[in-house]
Amino acid sequence: MAGLCSKSVALDLLLLLLLVALSSFLSCSAELRRLDHPLKNDGSLSLLVIGDWGRKGAYNQSEVATQMGRIGEVLDIDFVISTGDNFYEDGLTGVDDKAFEESFTSIYTAKSLQKPWYAVLGNHDYRGNVAAQLNPILRRIDNRWICMRSFIVNAEIVEFFFVDTTPFVKKYWIDPEDDHYDWRGVAPREKYISNLLKDLHQALKESSAAWKIVVGHHTMRSVSDHGDTQELLTLLLPILKSNEVDLYINGHDHCLQHISSKDSPLQYLTSGGGSKAWRGVFTPNADKLRFFYDGQGFMSLQLTKTNANVAFYDVFGRVLYKWSMDKQLDKEM
Ligand SMILES: *[C@@H]1O[C@H](CO)[C@@H](O)[C@H](O)[C@H]1NC(C)=O
Repeated sequence: MAGLCSKSVALDLLLLLLLVALSSFLSCSAELRRLDHPLKNDGSLSLLVIGDWGRKGAYNQSEVATQMGRIGEVLDIDFVISTGDNFYEDGLTGVDDKAFEESFTSIYTAKSLQKPWYAVLGNHDYRGNVAAQLNPILRRIDNRWICMRSFIVNAEIVEFFFVDTTPFVKKYWIDPEDDHYDWRGVAPREKYISNLLKDLHQALKESSAAWKIVVGHHTMRSVSDHGDTQELLTLLLPILKSNEVDLYINGHDHCLQHISSKDSPLQYLTSGGGSKAWRGVFTPNADKLRFFYDGQGFMSLQLTKTNANVAFYDVFGRVLYKWSMDKQLDKEM
C-alpha cells in the first residue's frame, strides 16, 4: 500500500515537472498576445476589412462607413479588421487626441459595426505617438478599439496573425525625409524583426486551425502606387509560404485588389480603400492579378471550416468582385 502510494506520488511529481517544462517551453515560444473570438452558433464567422481610413469623414470615409454598416448588418458580422493607417496624417498625438473620436467613433456609428475592431498600425500611425494609439485606455472612449503591434486572434476554425509591418521598411529608418517615425520600443530594427519572425513562425507552425490568415499594413504584392514591399517579400513571405498561410490581407495602397501567388496557395488581398483613393497607378507584377479597383471601398470575409468567401464593395455598397475557395479537409488526416 505504502509502496503503491509513493509510486503514485513519484508519478505525480514527474507529471508536474513535465507540465512546468512544457509551460515554460510554451511561454517562450508564444510571445505574441493571443485573443479568442467565438464563432457563430452555426460554426461560421463573418467580418469586414477596412484600411487607410481616418480622415474625419473626408474623401468618402463617411460614405464607405455607411455602406460598411449596411453590409455589416446583412452579413451579421462578428468583428472588423483594420489594416492600418488608422489616423491621418500622423497617427494620434496622445490618448486625448480628438481625432480618435472624429475619425473613428463618430464615423463608424452603424449598429452592425459596434463589434471589436482588431487593428494593426500603418506607417502613418507610426508618425504619431504610437504608445497612445496602442494604449488600452482608449477603450474607455470606445470599447471596440483593439490595436496592438503583433497579435493573434483565434476563432477555432481560423487563426488571424496580425503583424506589425512598418518596422520592416528600411526607408522609414534611413531616409524618412520630413517624416518622423516613433520607433520607441521597436529599435534596433534587426532585433525586433528577427524576434517577431521567430515568434510568428512558431505560432504558425503550432496552429491547427483550418484557415491561417496573416494581416499586415504593407503590401506583399500590389499593382498600385506603392507596389510590392520588397522587405516583406524577402523576410515575411517565405514564412507564410512554408506554413501554408491561406490569405495575406493588407492595406497601404489605397485600393482594392486580389492577386494569387503562382507558386503557392497564398492569396494576396488589399483592402485599403477607407478614404482617399484614385491614385491612377497601375504596374503589373509577376503574380496573377485577379481583381483591381483604384477607388474607395471595403472587403468582407465569410468563413466556415471548409469554405471562404471574399467580396469587395465600392462606396455605394455595390459588390465589385467575389471570390470563393473550398478547402479539402482530408489532407489534415
Ligand atoms: C467619392 O466617390 C465617388 C464615387 O466613386 C467618386 O466619383 C468621387 O471622386 C469620390 N470622392 C473623392 C474625394 O474621392
